[in-house]
Amino acid sequence: MLRAFLLYLSNAVWARNIVTHWRIARRMACRFVAGDTFEDALKAIYKLNEKGFYTTLDNLGENVISSEEALKATDAYIEIFQRLHDEGVKSSCSVKLSQLGLELDYDLCLSNMRCIATHAAEFGTLVRIDMEDSSTVDRTIQIYHTLRAEDITNIGLAIQSYLRRSEEDVLSLLEDGTRIRLCKGAYNEPPEVAFPQKRDVDASYDRITAHMIDGSQAHGSEPASVDGKIPPIAAIGTHDSKRIGFAREYAKSVGLPKEALEFQMLYGIRSDLQEALQAEGYPVRVYVPFGTEWYPYFMRRLAERPANLWFFITALVRG
Ligand code: FDA
Repeated sequence: MLRAFLLYLSNAVWARNIVTHWRIARRMACRFVAGDTFEDALKAIYKLNEKGFYTTLDNLGENVISSEEALKATDAYIEIFQRLHDEGVKSSCSVKLSQLGLELDYDLCLSNMRCIATHAAEFGTLVRIDMEDSSTVDRTIQIYHTLRAEDITNIGLAIQSYLRRSEEDVLSLLEDGTRIRLCKGAYNEPPEVAFPQKRDVDASYDRITAHMIDGSQAHGSEPASVDGKIPPIAAIGTHDSKRIGFAREYAKSVGLPKEALEFQMLYGIRSDLQEALQAEGYPVRVYVPFGTEWYPYFMRRLAERPANLWFFITALVRG
């Protein structure tokens, strides 16, 4: 109930207009967002790279309302690849198709994504397409397939274990060695589309993890590139130690080398777990968001964990 309400607020313009003016909200968002500017993100990436982590950079923004905004976001990513290359950091990028105009014009979005991926390819960088709400999944997968058919291979997809369709999607995507980041899913979905119970989401997560690990074996356990710009086929995006435990055990049982199983977590969440996995020899990638469009991302993080909300409310009341 609370989760659904917070996710509703994440899309409500009136709520955004109020919350983004609260200084305390901005301060709390800093826990999850590296800062407003690319330079802020770069500082965070340097620190993470120094500790041995890879990163994936997200230039925050979603659901743009004009083609100009979509083109601006595309140009921003193109500049980012150059800057990441110039700085010599170990980072890939993540992008949301609604930021590139998916809800405005499919062809515009496809063309923007093509442009981003081809520029990223010049620097040997993977671009991971984040998965948004369920209404976007077919179009997202279609754009991915269209670009793959054009021999653009430096792209990957995020898949959500809460969707009933995802296991089938993953089996089909693995046939061509798609680099998948598995996450649980962060949007508000009806029960016909997504498992309402956490135990079913978790069970689906483990089943899909097993498919991804088997798929990695079938494709020769491709490791992450040494410069951290291309992750392996199987990326486990969660902070849930049980899911992580399952992935490690299953990979071990089938003999998948550690470097072919990447763990991914969000900036500011479970750094202890990030460090432990890295110390064990697994590649660990931190998702680093930056930018002024932090509101929906921040609200999704609140929705995931009621304790965050109580912390927020207490801070708000205290002033
Ligand atoms: P779960 O919610 O069960 O949490 C497990 C534990 O992690 C909690 O007990 C707590 O300790 C910690 N934790 C989780 N969330 C926290 C929070 N917000 N604050 C503090 N602690 C928290 N979703 C999506 O729909 N599309 C996408 O493309 C992506 N991309 C993505 C990339 C990466 C690298 C990650 C890690 C996650 C995503 N997500 C996503 C978000 C994902 O779907 C999910 O909402 C969150 O990861 C929270 O779920 P967990 O898997 O962590 O499990």
